[in-house]
Amino acid sequence: MGVKILGIETSCDETAAGVVEDGRRLRSNIIASQASLHSPFGGVVPEVASRQHIRDIVPVLKNAVEGCGLSLEDVDVVAATYGPGLAGSLISGLNVAKAMAFTLGIPFIGVNHLEGHIYASWLTRYDPEEAPGFPLACLIASGGHTDLVLMEGHGDYKLVGRTRDDAAGEAFDKAARILGLGFPGGPEIQRVSQDATGEERLPRAWLKDTHDFSFSGVKTALLHLAQAKGVYPPGSGGLAGAETARVVRELAAAFQESVVDVIAAKLLEMAAKYRARGVILGGGVAANARLREVITQRCPLPVIIPPPVLCTDNGAMIAACAYFQYRRGQQFSLDLDIDPGLPLG
Ligand code: KG4
Ligand code: ZN
Repeated sequence: MGVKILGIETSCDETAAGVVEDGRRLRSNIIASQASLHSPFGGVVPEVASRQHIRDIVPVLKNAVEGCGLSLEDVDVVAATYGPGLAGSLISGLNVAKAMAFTLGIPFIGVNHLEGHIYASWLTRYDPEEAPGFPLACLIASGGHTDLVLMEGHGDYKLVGRTRDDAAGEAFDKAARILGLGFPGGPEIQRVSQDATGEERLPRAWLKDTHDFSFSGVKTALLHLAQAKGVYPPGSGGLAGAETARVVRELAAAFQESVVDVIAAKLLEMAAKYRARGVILGGGVAANARLREVITQRCPLPVIIPPPVLCTDNGAMIAACAYFQYRRGQQFSLDLDIDPGLPLG
């Protein structure tokens, strides 16, 4: 029997828990999304998020454990995200995990959320350590981060590039708001872009000679173009419904193309410069179909991308990551505090 780890994730607006055996075998992955609660506000409301975690955490945990035929006594290690993220959200998951470790008398592991996104790739049919092997060029693109990280071994990270303003997911969310689409914006932009002809184009911020990103310029360019085309503010332009929908999908596609092009180019540049043996994608934006397609097409190295449900926030990735921390003997005491600004590398 392998080591069964229960991973708990509450850093933002998903209450999630999953059980993973020996870091790679996915036993369960339960996610209670709060998207519909935050949607009317066009973004995550921290106070609403923390209160909803408190309501959802116990049923989610119960489902994650019992759903794969286990009982609490079968869990060997309990792990939770302790940063980065929203303070009130992190506290709820971390406290539950510590209380479980205390009452069950089992080890507790604190996990860096960003490192968790990387380890979602260990839940695929590949073992990235075996093939392609380290070093790995990792992209973590989420609502709060757009990081290029060189992973030289388990727990060994070097932050090579990051966003200087908006994170990629945040940019998708803001672009969707400009275009009058729903929240979260990434999936909405992807959905409407599918039927676009590709006739519009937005600029790319290359920030030459650095591995850093900037997405605020393209967002502003989108705003100006949307104004000029009569679709911003949403509902103000007097265009017929079908014409509005047409303009919105062309602008959404132009925005997606611009963000994807820059991310793909910079990730590949970084991978070549640091002689990475392969590329890993993680974070909510890695669920984007166009990003997955472009990187897979352009990258000369092996590319590992978890299925979309493991790219967005989940507890299984936290359990996978915790296994490798546990295996190398990392220990956490039960007075571990949250760290909302926790960096990686
Ligand atoms: O990793 P994640 O679930 O939570 C954070 O750690 O932030 O990422 C959430 C972000 C949101 O900004 C959301 O719009 C974006 O990921 N996202 C996407 C897609 N699915 C989620 N962005 C682009 N395309 C998608 N399909
Ligand atoms: Zn995340």
